[in-house]
Amino acid sequence: MKAAAAIACSNVALAKYWGKRDERLNLPYMGSLSITMAGLTTMARFEPRTGTRSDRVVMNGAEAEPREGKRIVDFLDLVRAEGGIHGALNVAIDTNFPVAAGIASSASTFAALAVGATAACELSLTDVQLSVLARRGSGSAARSIFGGFVEWLAGGAEDGSDSYAVQIAPPEHWALGVVVAVTDAGRKRVGSREGMAQAVRQSPFFPSWLETHWADLDTIRQGILERDLGAVGAAAEHNCLKMHAVSMAAIPGLLYWAPATVAVLHRVRELRETGVEAYFTIDAGPQVKVICAMGQRATVADAIAAVPGVQRVLLSEPGPGARLLEAA
Ligand code: DP6
Repeated sequence: MKAAAAIACSNVALAKYWGKRDERLNLPYMGSLSITMAGLTTMARFEPRTGTRSDRVVMNGAEAEPREGKRIVDFLDLVRAEGGIHGALNVAIDTNFPVAAGIASSASTFAALAVGATAACELSLTDVQLSVLARRGSGSAARSIFGGFVEWLAGGAEDGSDSYAVQIAPPEHWALGVVVAVTDAGRKRVGSREGMAQAVRQSPFFPSWLETHWADLDTIRQGILERDLGAVGAAAEHNCLKMHAVSMAAIPGLLYWAPATVAVLHRVRELRETGVEAYFTIDAGPQVKVICAMGQRATVADAIAAVPGVQRVLLSEPGPGARLLEAA
């Protein structure tokens, strides 16, 4: 074992992963597609820990809560098992945006952990193998291994070996702006893990969500390749609203939106009426992510920041994949 450090960006899904066919391996029923978000990062640092068999996990400067810590240690166990390696680690994880509030902090966290922990264990994996590994920590993390525009292939194998992400276009392919409206920086009440399990088991709409998802995915992939914002945006909004409709129709119904979430959705549609091409999407939390042409990002950000209840806006754009840093 050796010291290592890695960094990964979060991502925003335009075609959502929402439903697992295998909960243990994080295998999805559907493919999904996201933009890796520059500047919204998690950094993970590793050092060998001597004189003990247990890992120590510090997140944003504080000892990890037991549940979170266990999820990280379970993931490190996977990496150690892969390499037949023993030995404890000190892990420091720092995320520079609101954690567990629907900006996919688990995506950047487990992508950074996959890249950093394999380096700490002196394992050499391909990007596809890293994507498979990151997926085991959190499904959406499979996509954050890559930069730019990324598709996670659902795969069909029982062991998950064909369920990984691929880059469909690099960050410089398309100058898109992403504006994240933070409407409630507190922790979400129902995490995506429980939320999607509830949607699969309890929502009468789940079968139609799944059936209609693939067409959205195709439209979004094609629209990205052709840089067609109207096509991508319309399909992404539709896919997002369906994901939330499926969840609202579960028993008990899931409601991720805050009042300001809805206010932002209306504002985005008003912007379009005035000729500003902007489109929204929402993950398993109250924040809204808005995509637009890079040249209009400042206009969109100003308009969104002025919506009552919006606490702050974060600016992003297609960013790089997960990578190793010089270990301190
Ligand atoms: C709504 O990847 O957080 O953001 O695999 O259980 O860790 P687990 O779930 P997670 O779910 C993300 C769901 C989503 C949509 C998406 O990112 O595709």
